[in-house]
Amino acid sequence: MTKLSVNINKLATLRNSRGSNNPNLIKAAKDIERFGADGITVHPRPDERHIRYSDVYELKKIVTTEFNIEGNCTEQKFVDLVIANQPTQVTLVPDALGQLTSNHGWNTIEHAGYLKNIVSVFKNAGIRVSIFVDPVIEMIEGAKATGTDRVELYTESYAKQFAEGNKQTAIAPFIAAATKANELGLGINAGHDLDLQNLKYFSENIPGLLEVSIGHALICDAVNLGLENTVQLYKRQLK
Ligand code: PXP
Repeated sequence: MTKLSVNINKLATLRNSRGSNNPNLIKAAKDIERFGADGITVHPRPDERHIRYSDVYELKKIVTTEFNIEGNCTEQKFVDLVIANQPTQVTLVPDALGQLTSNHGWNTIEHAGYLKNIVSVFKNAGIRVSIFVDPVIEMIEGAKATGTDRVELYTESYAKQFAEGNKQTAIAPFIAAATKANELGLGINAGHDLDLQNLKYFSENIPGLLEVSIGHALICDAVNLGLENTVQLYKRQLK
């Protein structure tokens, strides 16, 4: 079954808006795990506007499911943070400084040399590596050449077209990319803009989908439905 990793950046943004410790990220991560999530994802950015580097050390102490740290590996501070915390997985995302949210995958061909090198840094430290990519066959092939364990398919285009009612067109490039990844022996994760409406169709149609990482929509739903109920509703979509 596909694993659900909950991205808790939004909770950190809410906490930071008041300068106190409410909501408490440690409690939230423990609760999310207790409610059935299979992992916790954090995406520290250099400006620390949501997850702080210090949060990662505290979360590492209590996360008992899969801990996934995603971010821009061209920042040495990020590399050091990941190595120091030994998460289950690091997801390499090419986001620029101050970017609102991730909006493209790595060009695994243009940056082949760099990626190969950084993948081996993390793998030598015993950390599973995933590279965030657009659903493009050449990018999957390029990812394979870096030695990464997995790719994370960037699902924003799927979510957008799904919402416009074009399910089949939306999913087609993801099926092709996933089929190629399976053929090459790469694990498949996915994330960005997945929600309670589009998740089931995605997970049912993507062969070998190992994990989805979901933040924004899940936390928004939790405002209306409660965190416990929401985590369980998302898990149900993946059955
Ligand atoms: N995957 C990556 C690489 C991301 O950067 C994000 C957003 O931080 C997500 C998944 C989760 O996206 P969303 O918040 O839209 O669920």
